[in-house]
Amino acid sequence: MYPDELRESALRVAASRDRRLKEKHARLTPEEKDALLRGFHPDFREDTQRPVTVGPNSGDRMPHELVDLLEARSRIDPAALALDRADLEADVLIIGGGGAGAAAALTAQEAGARVLLVTKLRLGDANTMMAQGGIQAATSAVDSPATHYLDVMGGGGYTNDPALVRALVRDAPAVVAWLEELGCMFSKRPDGTLMAIHGGGTSRKRMHFARDYTGAEIMRTLRDELLNRDVPVVEFCPALELLLDDQGRCGGAVLQNFETGAFLVAHARTVILATGGFGRLHVSGFPTSNHYGATADGLVMAYRAGAELCFLDATQFHPTGVAYPEQMLGQLVTEKVRGVGAQLVNAEGQQFVFPLETRDAVSAAIIRECGLPGKGVATPTGQKGVWLDSPMIELIHGPGTVRRELPAMFRQYERFGIDMSVNPIVVYPTLHYQNGGIRVDASGSCPRIPGLYVAGEAVGGIHGRNRLMGNSLLDILVFGRRAGHEAATSRLPAAGRLTLEHVRRHNRGVGKAGRGHPPAPLLLPDYVGKQPGA
Ligand code: FUM
Repeated sequence: MYPDELRESALRVAASRDRRLKEKHARLTPEEKDALLRGFHPDFREDTQRPVTVGPNSGDRMPHELVDLLEARSRIDPAALALDRADLEADVLIIGGGGAGAAAALTAQEAGARVLLVTKLRLGDANTMMAQGGIQAATSAVDSPATHYLDVMGGGGYTNDPALVRALVRDAPAVVAWLEELGCMFSKRPDGTLMAIHGGGTSRKRMHFARDYTGAEIMRTLRDELLNRDVPVVEFCPALELLLDDQGRCGGAVLQNFETGAFLVAHARTVILATGGFGRLHVSGFPTSNHYGATADGLVMAYRAGAELCFLDATQFHPTGVAYPEQMLGQLVTEKVRGVGAQLVNAEGQQFVFPLETRDAVSAAIIRECGLPGKGVATPTGQKGVWLDSPMIELIHGPGTVRRELPAMFRQYERFGIDMSVNPIVVYPTLHYQNGGIRVDASGSCPRIPGLYVAGEAVGGIHGRNRLMGNSLLDILVFGRRAGHEAATSRLPAAGRLTLEHVRRHNRGVGKAGRGHPPAPLLLPDYVGKQPGA
């Protein structure tokens, strides 16, 4: 079980459980929430961000780790590549093998396009596979897309792009029905209807799930479908740059074979970027819940090609990353744990925040609590945290609920001798999501680059400054499908002669700005000589 320094505090948590069971923690007022965020959320710290000095967003503040990549030189020498002859050709080139890329490929193929999906690692190696808690959709009689819309906007601090949110919530029920049709096995009630719980910031129970491995079940479904339909997939082949004609129209990409190092030129009528987010950049030194491939590659390529980025000064730290044991540091403890009743409790056994405030507020509250004398839980490595009182779930819903409803999480802890249905667990915020990204319209197309579409975590604007749980598994599918359809049916005139002139321009700009970062896209995180999250 727990070492001495944790055991005593865990006993205080157990001793306060019956009292807390009857206690409802007050919700934050808007003023309290604002003060909490300004005081304790990492986005508001002076030292975590700086203005980018090159490209379309010059002057905008973003995390240092991202600015380093946006100001870096290309991995390729534009003069050294012949671009007229294609090694690969398609109507629609999809870059990225997670949920968004898979949904885009299936939809583009259904619309009659010759599709090619290329991916840096293996098909399905992506954050989608790791998503646990659920997918939101207004499917019940007491809910509606309009109510879902208000929740998404509220979660994002009313900064979200309304057209994107409208698309998200309107398509949601159809997306869930589509997944079911493809064979996705959601958790259901005995009458066959979808089970649903609350997530942070939701006014209705609309979080649908497959136990606590929802993303894996969705990705399994999409991957099976791609394989069944013989959609061509090229693995271990990251994209390094987009190709543009002299009008700035996108018509392909330069890829690199990860095994041989050879460059490949891919021509396509349209291109969809579905490269995910920046979680593996360990923004502000945080550990991360993200997949190994989440290194912001799409942002870097699109930015050089002239795309506008937005909301990248707003990073999502998931309140409950694992703080102990050390081997699991930063791994996600799904919000579903709080959704089914677990409370956040300090070292003295006191609840200090309503557990289902929005993520930005809960993370800030945990960071604040850990800074107060005697309130944070000190783990043997010095990593601070607070308790997530998972045994409460058994008190509320009956014995066996944790093992039944959170089987993946239960097993993760069991491997380290911790029974989370009996003992509370120690958590601390972990870098989870890139709220911002590339600006698109509701069809997924990038307004400044004809022929380029974006889907998934690489998109910015849907969630404003803070995404709610379950709207990411939703957005990858909504915008993956929209982008797939648009890219396949676009009537844009064909691209002219393709060049890397924009890359030359970028390299010149970077030279002038005197930046000396390693080349980008990063492709893989660099842990040599570093502790992840240190
Ligand atoms: O807590 C979670 O299960 C995370 C879900 C999400 O980010 O949507």
